[in-house]
Amino acid sequence: LLAEFPPPAPGEKAAGRGGAPGNFVFAVNATVTACERAGEWPAALQLLCDARDGRNGWPRPDLLTYNATISACTRGQRWQSALDLLQEARRQQLRPGAAAFSCAARACGHGGGRFQSEVWGAVAWAYEASGLRPPAPPVPVAELARKQASVLDFVRRQAPQGDLEAVLSAMRDFAQQREWLKVAGGAKARLLEAVLRPGDVVLELGCFVGFSALVAVQRLRRLGGGGRVISCELDAASAIIAREVISWAGAAEEVQVRIGLASDWIASGQLGSPDVLVLDHRGARYHEDLAAIEESLPRSARVLADNVLSPGAPLFLSAIDGRYAIAIHEVDEFMRAGPAAAGGPSAPKQLAFA
Ligand SMILES: C[S@@+](CC[C@H](N)C(=O)[O-])C[C@H]1O[C@@H](n2cnc3c(N)ncnc32)[C@H](O)[C@@H]1O
Repeated sequence: LLAEFPPPAPGEKAAGRGGAPGNFVFAVNATVTACERAGEWPAALQLLCDARDGRNGWPRPDLLTYNATISACTRGQRWQSALDLLQEARRQQLRPGAAAFSCAARACGHGGGRFQSEVWGAVAWAYEASGLRPPAPPVPVAELARKQASVLDFVRRQAPQGDLEAVLSAMRDFAQQREWLKVAGGAKARLLEAVLRPGDVVLELGCFVGFSALVAVQRLRRLGGGGRVISCELDAASAIIAREVISWAGAAEEVQVRIGLASDWIASGQLGSPDVLVLDHRGARYHEDLAAIEESLPRSARVLADNVLSPGAPLFLSAIDGRYAIAIHEVDEFMRAGPAAAGGPSAPKQLAFA
């Protein structure tokens, strides 16, 4: 029927109820829902793909099309398709409903352990945001984050417990002697130190193993004490290891590591009003996360963003252009100072200090 009655062209008077071109998506959705109820997941999926690819002149699928197709795939035990569609919907800035997430959770459950770290990470965030203690990881964190676990092991062997300076130095040694770490060391650490003022509350997006969070604590202590750091980390295993590293350094009182997507924490309204915002998670998200938290920042806030020229954060740079006092510092990536250190040409790296 859908194929026989293509949507009216823009401006064309539609026959019957709800016949405006934009409304045709309702007809598609009703058909997808019918397919879902009839257990016809291949037809539902086909309809969604046709609409998505603009076949037959159909309008683009909307949230309901995705919700119904995800549901159809779940009923049809097409777990991977359900998860792929959920991702696709989120990429298109659609916000799938609770039913779609519950389908996805079931899909993960059927993944035979393939999604264990993602599921546990998402569950850990949900528990923590609700003020609950998250469940233990499904396997030892060392299996989920090998390099990070080696850092913790190295730190415990090299640095006396409670010695923040020794812990930072052990992490630098690890990066030099064992495996490189993508942390804000060297010139980047000095830039971070330079923006801090006594008693600052620092919000960092992208904690990894807690190196820069500890750099900030060390500086805040030297400035006379007071102040604290909240650091969000998407990867739950890294976050748990970062907590151990921070606790070994004796800084557990001064740093809170939050497990989960920075945007989820910002949306939860639980991050307060930071004096300093450090963006060190994903350049492609800097502008969105800054926009989401901007109204909580005091006018005196300072924003430090890493890697804005390479790999680059063009949307972020254009979002702050003309609205912030900006300084861009070209500095080397930590321990990647030159061809010899990097095993290749050194890339220019940079922080934008807004
Ligand atoms: C470059 S590392 C951070 C390094 C750390 N700031 C330091 O200098 O010690 C980036 C981290 O951001 C995390 N990440 C990526 N996207 C994120 C997001 N949307 N929310 C929170 N963390 C994220 C990654 O898992 C990774 O551990």
